[in-house]
Amino acid sequence: MTDRPVGMLDSGLGGISVLAQALRDLPREDYVYFGDTAHIPYGDKDPAEVLRLTRQGVDRLLAYGCKAIVIACNTATSVAAAQLRQEMTLPVIGIEPALKPASLLPGEGQILVLATRVTLKLPKFQALMERYGNHAVPVPCSGLMECVEAGQLEGERVNTLLSELLTPYLDKPVKAVVLGCTHYPFLKKAIAAFLPAGTPLIDGNAGTVRQLGRRLAEEDLQASSEHPGGKVTFLTSSEDPATVARMEAMLQTALRSL
Ligand code: DGL
Repeated sequence: MTDRPVGMLDSGLGGISVLAQALRDLPREDYVYFGDTAHIPYGDKDPAEVLRLTRQGVDRLLAYGCKAIVIACNTATSVAAAQLRQEMTLPVIGIEPALKPASLLPGEGQILVLATRVTLKLPKFQALMERYGNHAVPVPCSGLMECVEAGQLEGERVNTLLSELLTPYLDKPVKAVVLGCTHYPFLKKAIAAFLPAGTPLIDGNAGTVRQLGRRLAEEDLQASSEHPGGKVTFLTSSEDPATVARMEAMLQTALRSL
């Protein structure tokens, strides 16, 4: 057992949707969250650059004594998770588009997989497509993440963009939508408004936090039962105090929506 914190990282604020889930499901743990806000977006960058930036983020978390790393970013996971697992002894947990659970849902129709360009083009997602992608339609969503970073979770800018991105697919039935970028759960309400009522919108957050819980248990790294837990430290690369305030506000938004 150890009361050292769990480290989480993303290119910006998106991974806070995973952090909220972790605070709810593993409340005895403390968390250090790093948002690489000076280098966002990851989703349109060269994978070698994303690997370099992810390593830098992990180093910052290690300096805080983190006992496990959650890559709360689909893009960085696709690029860096396998490599980092080879290089490090502590648990590295990643996130991937939740295509498997979506494919197991009953019903007919397309499964729209919303994610960044990099996530959709890398071999990790191609392997997922081969196994579970029978009805899956990859939809690269450039621009959506920027709305979340700007705090625009609904309204004209988001709706115009969503209309451009989704309308081409809406003349056929949609069985489910996979939110394959950790920023997109913040846009659930706006996305749902384009779909028939009740269309499932699935993210990988709960599965990722379950995996974190399993790995901490396997390595005997869970917080002790006396530890109060729930402490969150926010770090950024932009060194702008206003960013930390935005992160705290986003965490409250994410916690309310669980
Ligand atoms: N949140 C990141 C993800 O899950 C992507 C955002 C970005 O493009 O930086 O893929």
